[in-house]
Amino acid sequence: MKRIYNFSAGPATLPLETLQQAQADFVDYQGSGMSIMEMSHRGKHYDAVHQEALANFRELLSVPDTHEIVFMQGGATSQFSFVPMNLLHPGQTADYINSGAWAKKAIAEAKVFGSVNVAADFGKEIPTRQAYADELKLTPGAAYLHCTSNETISGAQIKAFPETEAPLVSDMSSDILSRALDISKFGLIYAGAQKNLGPSGVTLVIIRKDLAEQANANIPEMFKYQTHVANQSLYNTPPTFAVYMLCLVTRWLKAQGGVAAMEALNNRKSATLYDLIDSTDFYRGTALPEFRSTMNVTFRLPTEELEAAFIKEAKAMDMDGLKGHRSVGGIRASIYNAFPEEGVDALAAFMKDFEAKHG
Ligand SMILES: Cc1ncc(COP(=O)(O)O)c(C=O)c1O
Repeated sequence: MKRIYNFSAGPATLPLETLQQAQADFVDYQGSGMSIMEMSHRGKHYDAVHQEALANFRELLSVPDTHEIVFMQGGATSQFSFVPMNLLHPGQTADYINSGAWAKKAIAEAKVFGSVNVAADFGKEIPTRQAYADELKLTPGAAYLHCTSNETISGAQIKAFPETEAPLVSDMSSDILSRALDISKFGLIYAGAQKNLGPSGVTLVIIRKDLAEQANANIPEMFKYQTHVANQSLYNTPPTFAVYMLCLVTRWLKAQGGVAAMEALNNRKSATLYDLIDSTDFYRGTALPEFRSTMNVTFRLPTEELEAAFIKEAKAMDMDGLKGHRSVGGIRASIYNAFPEEGVDALAAFMKDFEAKHG
């Protein structure tokens, strides 16, 4: 078996142990004579997996009783619509921070449902940073403030979340479970699974109970948060295999020491790359230093030709997925929770060699 270092932004590297466990369980789950994928979502085997995954998230993120955890489908992209559909009430305005490509998409969808105020706008530049709390132009009585915790494309991450009167809503698709958070400060958090949590196909949502209860009622049943809350994410058939993988990944996270251990590891892994970038003029970090993501390390080389050579040579050394997003170019090393530290060290060694050769 050969495993390469996969720096893809998502779907992304999963813990090897979870893949091996899934392989062992694949055809005959716990002596049932069936795969977990073939079982009723109302049966005892699947129910145990589903409840364990929910409980593991509550434990790992210290989610208080004031908040519900639900599994939904449609990716984070559907949440761009679900959030305003549920929480932007008639006559209200929603505040959004435009921190880059993902925030921009969320804003466009919110405008379909109501009035939007862009509280800070970095959408016109190539985004390299997030907003400081004191530069936000907030709407009194806003339905909520939406922010993108980590802009996966630019590699700019919020380091201190704003304190707001309005409920704080955050797209945490690319950094959920990567660092400790006070969940009580958030009205709603959503995250597609395929970066830090598991395979694609399931979306994690954490919502304050009162917000789910007071959501707009004149929307389809499937699109109401309260429907999924009331039915413990079993209103319809959930993506059972994806939830099973969430269960394995959350078990793995607990065994690693939980979010505190991940945060320390992520700080260490990203510092290895940023320290190297800062030690030379050959590599230039894309995000401003105070907003540098611990998940997506973005940087440029002196020319696009050198960037193409970098990606090609890295690939020949079994390091794949380093090409920056097509909208910004450059290099992006995505190093989520499950990405091994040895892979980061291998990339750093390669970067030094590449500079020695081409610098
Ligand atoms: C921050 C962020 N938000 C939203 C999305 C879209 O997620 P999905 O493909 O699950 O709809 C992504 C995907 O890369 C992302 O990185």
